[in-house]
Amino acid sequence: MRYIVFSDLHSNLEALNQFEKEISSIPYDRLVCLGDIVGYGADPNFCVDWVRNNVDFTLAGNHDLAVIKKTDIAYFNDYAIEACKWTQKILTAENRTFLETLPMDKEENGVYWVHASPYQPARWHYVVSKKDAEKHFRSFDAPVCFVGHSHKPIILEQKPEGEINDYVADLWNIEPENRYIFNDGSLGQPRDGNTRPMYILYDSDERTVEFKRFDYDFTETQNKIIENGLPDYLADRLSRGK
Ligand SMILES: [Fe+2]
Repeated sequence: MRYIVFSDLHSNLEALNQFEKEISSIPYDRLVCLGDIVGYGADPNFCVDWVRNNVDFTLAGNHDLAVIKKTDIAYFNDYAIEACKWTQKILTAENRTFLETLPMDKEENGVYWVHASPYQPARWHYVVSKKDAEKHFRSFDAPVCFVGHSHKPIILEQKPEGEINDYVADLWNIEPENRYIFNDGSLGQPRDGNTRPMYILYDSDERTVEFKRFDYDFTETQNKIIENGLPDYLADRLSRGK
């Protein structure tokens, strides 16, 4: 089974349009969205419409639940709060209803899928290094887990005796004796110092995980953020990848 996995689109229509072109030439069986369709960007309705109509399964991200007031936003920074309030105003009833249906996590085909972290998924912890990784590995049973949320790709590998290491790579081979957590980066707002959107191609038969990136023109995305009165900072960071 070949999965295309993405997350953290954050209402970035230009990244989504280019993503659609990129994956049109890739054979795959399942398209998976690990949440955060909305928040930050200026095109929440186009993005939710597309996910609703094209993705095989979608999980809830913290920004998706914030917009429908199903998670606490006390820890959000001012930019995130402003974008959340703006999104609440323009989101269609149909798209609000779709966000209401999203589950927190899922198990399928020997994989545990979740937006933020296997440990306390609704507390929105970040999986960014091998520090604290042991409790995440303890919190799911499957050999492989995919997460998003941090907007930074990472590979965590746990050996049978418990040793955990972290890596960043373009291509990873899954060893049957080890367990893994893969973070898919971000499609709409990368924060690893690279402006190029990222997604994963996971082949469960070949046991490979490919981290794929592409170029897109983010100037239009930036202009729309500013024209809609969203914080300049949210436009600026797209050209910094931070
Ligand atoms: Fe996010």
